[in-house]
Amino acid sequence: MSHALSPQLPTTTAQKDNDVSEQKGIQVATPEHTQGTAGNGQVLVEARGLQKSFGIRQILKNVDFQMNKGDITVIIGKSGSGKSTLLRALAGLTDPDEGEILVDGRTVFAEQKRTKEWTKVRSEVGMVFQTYTLWPHMNVLDNLVLAPRKVRGAAGSESRDRAEAALDEVGMKHHILSRPTQLSGGERQRVAIARALMMKPKLLLCDEITSALDPPVAAEVLDVLRRLKEEDGIAVALVTHDMAFASKAADRVVFFHDGEIAVNATPEAAFDDCDNQDLKKFVDAVRF
Ligand SMILES: Nc1ncnc2c1ncn2[C@@H]1O[C@H](COP(=O)(O)OP(=O)(O)O)[C@@H](O)[C@H]1O
Ligand SMILES: [Mg+2]
Repeated sequence: MSHALSPQLPTTTAQKDNDVSEQKGIQVATPEHTQGTAGNGQVLVEARGLQKSFGIRQILKNVDFQMNKGDITVIIGKSGSGKSTLLRALAGLTDPDEGEILVDGRTVFAEQKRTKEWTKVRSEVGMVFQTYTLWPHMNVLDNLVLAPRKVRGAAGSESRDRAEAALDEVGMKHHILSRPTQLSGGERQRVAIARALMMKPKLLLCDEITSALDPPVAAEVLDVLRRLKEEDGIAVALVTHDMAFASKAADRVVFFHDGEIAVNATPEAAFDDCDNQDLKKFVDAVRF
C-alpha cells in the first residue's frame, strides 16, 4: 500500500484519538501525514490496531504504526512501555492478540494468525538485539552462514560470498575468521548486523543495540546503520535512548507511550515543536 508523498505537510502527528489531538493542537494523523521525507515515501511496514497482553497486563493497547521504505525510524519511550514487544511482533517473534501487520503491502498477520505470506516476508525482516547473540565457539564466518544454510539450504561458496559482502558493509571483513571473544563490543554488534544482512532484508529492526557500548563506539555502530540506509536503501527501526542520533539521523521519531504510539513525526517536529507533554517529560528525563 502506498500513498502520494507530501513532504511539505505538517509532520507532528498523533496516530489516533483525533478529537483529543485536535484539542491539543497536534496535527491529526492521516496516511499522508505519516509519510517520511527521506525514503521514497512508500509504506514498508504497517501495523493496525495491535494488541498484546502478558497475563492481565495489556502491553500493546492499540498500536497503529507505519514506516516508509528506506527510512530510519527511531522508537523511543519509557522502559517497559512495550517497544521490544512491538519490534518482536513486527519480526514475527511474538504473535499479537489482535490487529494486522502488513509488510510491503502484504498481510503477514491478521485475524489472530500468521498468513501464508508470513514465511516469505520473514526473511525480508532482520533483527539485531541488545546483547550479543553470536555463538562463541564459532568464528564470524560460521556465525553468519549458519542460518542461510539451514533455512535456505544455501551452498557453501554462495553463503561465503554473501558473508564477505555483508561483513564488508559493516567494515568487518578482515575479521571473518575471528571468534566473537576476540572482538570488542562494537565489533560484535557490527558482526550481528552483518548476520542480519545475510538474508538481504528490506527492514532491519534494532533493539537497543548500542546500550551496552561506550558513546564513541555506539556512534560507529549507528553510523553503519546510516550507511545501510543511504547505500542500500534498507529501512531501519531502531529502539534507542540516544537522542543525539535520533535528532541527527532519524527520518521519523516514534514516541511510544502507555501502549500506544503517541507521536510519529520528523525529529524537528518531535523534539522542537511538539506539545505532547509525555514526550517532553520523557526527553527531559533522558537528557538529565
Ligand atoms: N514474554 C513475556 N512474558 C511476560 N511479560 C513480558 C514478556 N515480554 C515482555 N513482558 C513485559 O511487557 C512489558 C513491556 O516489555 P518490553 O516490550 O520489553 O518493553 P520495553 O522494550 O519498552 O522496555 C514489560 O513489563 C515486560 O516485563
Ligand atoms: Mg526493550
